[in-house]
Amino acid sequence: MARTLQSVKGMNDLLPPDSAKTRSYERACRDLFELYGYREIRTPILEPTELFLRGVGDTTDIVEKQMYTFDDLKGRSMTMRPEMTASCVRSYIQHAVGKREPVTRWYYAGPMFRYERVQAGRYRQFWQIGVEALGSPEPSVDAEQIAMLVQLYGKVDIGGLEVQINSVGGPEDRPRFLAALVEHLRPAAESLCADCKRRLDKNPLRVLDCKIDGDKDVVRAAPSILDFLSDESTAHFEAVQANLADAGVEAVVNPRMVRGLDYYTATVFEIISHSNNLGAQATLVAGGRYDGLVESLGGPPTPAVGFAIGVERNVMCMPGEPASFDRVPDLFIAALGDAARARATTLAYQLRGDGIYVELEHRPVGLKGQLKRANKINARYVAVIGDNELADNAANLKDMAASTEIRVALDDLAAAVRPD
Ligand code: HAM
Repeated sequence: MARTLQSVKGMNDLLPPDSAKTRSYERACRDLFELYGYREIRTPILEPTELFLRGVGDTTDIVEKQMYTFDDLKGRSMTMRPEMTASCVRSYIQHAVGKREPVTRWYYAGPMFRYERVQAGRYRQFWQIGVEALGSPEPSVDAEQIAMLVQLYGKVDIGGLEVQINSVGGPEDRPRFLAALVEHLRPAAESLCADCKRRLDKNPLRVLDCKIDGDKDVVRAAPSILDFLSDESTAHFEAVQANLADAGVEAVVNPRMVRGLDYYTATVFEIISHSNNLGAQATLVAGGRYDGLVESLGGPPTPAVGFAIGVERNVMCMPGEPASFDRVPDLFIAALGDAARARATTLAYQLRGDGIYVELEHRPVGLKGQLKRANKINARYVAVIGDNELADNAANLKDMAASTEIRVALDDLAAAVRPD
């Protein structure tokens, strides 16, 4: 026997009916984001490695440890995107989108790749649905995105969530804070993990969200970035909070939240689930403002804010059996005899063309077997066509929920079974 093969670790197949539940979640996102004026962008999965070195930051965990990077056949370094904000910004600059539109609102959905330690809710290929608003400096846009997420969670029925916000300030606020942070941490350097010892010199902010050191007393007692914000950054953060309050959104300020990517300026936010099936992987959405990224990737100065949702984690928190998201057949046509079978086939073709979900039995089974299958797949109606019915150009139509049966002309079948 030939050896069987397995999917790559951390990269999963999504089978029915789980795919139906995931699609229902995705549809809710798309439908809602479009109501806020976001339109879909699709970018390649493969990008030049330099995009993420410059875009995400070469001393972040993602870039240092987690990228799927390889040389193509001409020796150019390529990376399978670990996130999509950098790709959106590349595309925005490449197509000079800002010249045509003062404000650009994009959403995207697709797989991202990070070589991570695999556990429930943490994979090496995972889907994100995200939005990016480019060209908008206003704090009301930050707040609107957070409120939009809260509205999404109402629609998909995920509860027990906490919105956390912080400001990581602008480039002018950061150096003073980093100096104070390093001064605080340096005496305890020996107690930090090997990565954080390096980070102290290269990227001290990352010590605050280190998975090993983040909870140590010395890190917990670190100075708060909020005490180092300029008047302008403070005003922006206060305006975001005021806008959230106006929208009736409760948000907790978490001054220790710094996020794992280097491009953030000003507002950062996360939505955390308190549901217990996610354990440590409880961040359902994360995002923030990145006012300097477009410029640092060679574009014109362009303020921007966005977020990305981790689709698998969100679907894990969404109530409802996956099978309940599957579409049930509107009609099962059970045919007796070759002539009826041939008629059923053309009829099914026409009805499907009319937007009706029709199931048929292709295997050579009798009426009993066909009815059994109709039951199993929860068909709403069953039409039985035998020689007599065929002669009348009609079918016996059974409403499965009501257990009633009527005779219907084949021409009237579509109207009789069409869902409301
Ligand atoms: P991120 O925090 O790296 O941000 O990822 C956003 C979300 O993606 C996380 O909160 C989590 O739900 C999900 N996620 C991340 N890694 C994994 C994984 N290995 N397995 C499953 N889910 C995962 C970003 O990617 C930014 N681009 C967000 C953003 C958009 N900021 C501004 N615009």
